[in-house]
Amino acid sequence: MTRHFLEVDDLSASELSEVLAAALADNGRPLAGLGVAVVMTLPSTRTRNSTEMAVTDLGGHAVALAGGEVGVDVRETAEDVARTLAQYHRAICMRVVDHEVLVRMARAIDDARLDVPVVNLLSSTGHPVQALADLLTIAELDARGIGGLRGTRIAWIGDSNNVARSLTLGAVALGMHVSVSSPEGYRFGSDDVGRVASHAGLGGSLELVDDPVAAVEGAVAVCTDVWVSMGQEAERDARLAAFTGYQVDTALLERAATGAVLLHCLPAHRGEEVTAEVLEGPRSRVWQETSHRRAAMRGLLAWLVARAP
Ligand code: CP
Ligand code: NVA
Repeated sequence: MTRHFLEVDDLSASELSEVLAAALADNGRPLAGLGVAVVMTLPSTRTRNSTEMAVTDLGGHAVALAGGEVGVDVRETAEDVARTLAQYHRAICMRVVDHEVLVRMARAIDDARLDVPVVNLLSSTGHPVQALADLLTIAELDARGIGGLRGTRIAWIGDSNNVARSLTLGAVALGMHVSVSSPEGYRFGSDDVGRVASHAGLGGSLELVDDPVAAVEGAVAVCTDVWVSMGQEAERDARLAAFTGYQVDTALLERAATGAVLLHCLPAHRGEEVTAEVLEGPRSRVWQETSHRRAAMRGLLAWLVARAP
C-alpha cells in the first residue's frame, strides 16, 4: 500500500526518526524526471516555497496549483483531482481547509492502486510537515541531535490547533514530554489525548496544564502559534478574548528552562500570541525553524518515494 503522510502518526516512531535523519542526509536525486503537484487551497509562503525547493533539491519538478484553478469538489471531485494528478506526478502535496478531502484523495489513490503519496501541507486538523521542521529545530538544542530528543521537555502555549496537534503527536512518539496550556474551549479533546497516548513511545508524555507558567517549567522550547488560524477569521473577537493571558512574553520565557527558546511556525501576530520582544529576541529560533522546512520536506519526500507500494 502506498504510504501517505496526512498526519505525523501515519509514521511509526522509528519511521519518524528515519524521516528526520533523511532530512539531514544527502538524498541524491530520486525525483529526477518526475513531478510533484503542490496544491494550495489556502495562502502559503513557507510551505509552498520549501516544498518546491525540496522537489528541486531531489531533482524533480514541482507544479504549483492554486485552489481556485483546481476547484476541488467544485470543478471536479477530490477523487478525480487525485487520480488526475497521479497521472503526471510522483507525489501530491496539498493544503486544504477540510482534512477529509485529503483522506478521500488518499483513498482514491489506494483504490486505483496508484503509487503516489498524498502529503498534507496543512489542514484544519494538522500540519505534519511543520512538525518535522519543529522537531529538527528542537534537536539542534542538544549535541546528540535527533537522538537527544527522547526525554526532552517542551511546552505549547495558546491554541491547541493543527500545528500543536502534529507537533505533539510527533514529539510524544519520540519520547518527549509535552505540556500544553490552552484556555477552556481551545484545549485538546479526549480523542486527541487518546490518539497521542496510543502513539506515545519511549516514555513520552502529554500533560494538559491550566497555568501557562506551570506548563513552561523545565521546557527547553516554548512553542506557540496564531490564535486565529486560517478559516477561523469570523471567530477573531471571541478568540482574542479567550486567549488573554496566554501570550508568550519575556516573563513567561524566563520561567522555562535556562536558555529556553521560542518556536513559532509563522506567520506571527506580534502583540497577540507572542511579543515582538520575544519573537525578535536572541532566544527566538523561528528563522532556523523556517529554514528547516526545506530539509524536512526533502527528507519526507525522499523517504516516501523510496517505499515500495
Ligand atoms: N508555517 C507555515 O506553514 O507557513 P505558510 O502558511 O506561509 O506556508
Ligand atoms: N495554525 C495556522 C498555521 C499557519 C501556518 C493556520 O492554520 O492558519
